[in-house]
Amino acid sequence: MKLICANFKMNLLKKDILNYLKTIENVRKKNLVFFPSIPYIEYFKEKNYVVGSQDISYKNFGSLTGDTSIEQLKELGASYTIIGHSERREFYNDSKYVNQKISLALKHDFKIVLCIGENLKEFESSKTLFVLKKEIDEAFSNNLDMINESNLIIAYEPIWAIGTNKIPTSEVLKSTIYQIKNYILENYNLDLKVLYGGSVNLENIEELEKISEIDGYLIGGASLSPEKFLTLINKVN
Ligand code: 13P
Repeated sequence: MKLICANFKMNLLKKDILNYLKTIENVRKKNLVFFPSIPYIEYFKEKNYVVGSQDISYKNFGSLTGDTSIEQLKELGASYTIIGHSERREFYNDSKYVNQKISLALKHDFKIVLCIGENLKEFESSKTLFVLKKEIDEAFSNNLDMINESNLIIAYEPIWAIGTNKIPTSEVLKSTIYQIKNYILENYNLDLKVLYGGSVNLENIEELEKISEIDGYLIGGASLSPEKFLTLINKVN
């Protein structure tokens, strides 16, 4: 069964979350992880869903106004965290902290969804693999002895595919994910799962499902409507 991760980003209000939980009442709980905004983590936990945070602070506690500690997130019920999402890399200089955040998450027994991905310019100039390898190397240095197949999952999210309704061709996606897995296996001796993220929706899910290299999905916009999300989940094996 593939892993499905719903990243709500900074969307939805309490009334939407309560309606969401009501609508998805009978959905499978296995291999499904919700990443709502922090105030709503507890709501998903109360209903026994696996829940994660969209980010963590790079430090445990301290004078970091606006940050949320992994220990606080754990208290709310989070057991997963996304690290290195391209939106955090772009707007909050997060590439600098990915390595420290991974160490902290592993120390606190969180499961990590590590996002990697190239922008349009890099894609068009055939620099995709160069960028992905660099992001992997940065994330893994210092942390290798603690990373294993069950605590870290890669999410390949081409930046140009996020929220644009454009996705790589099946051929490109198949080859890129194969090469990510192969690079990690050859250089780090780890056989990691790779999710695909970027405009996954009802129109392209059947095509994506034909790509055997994809181990699951990280879904943004298409996870915001509970009805649409349920239909989407039912199309995933
Ligand atoms: P969209 O599914 O809205 O393109 O977002 C993808 C994403 O960034 C998930 O983390």
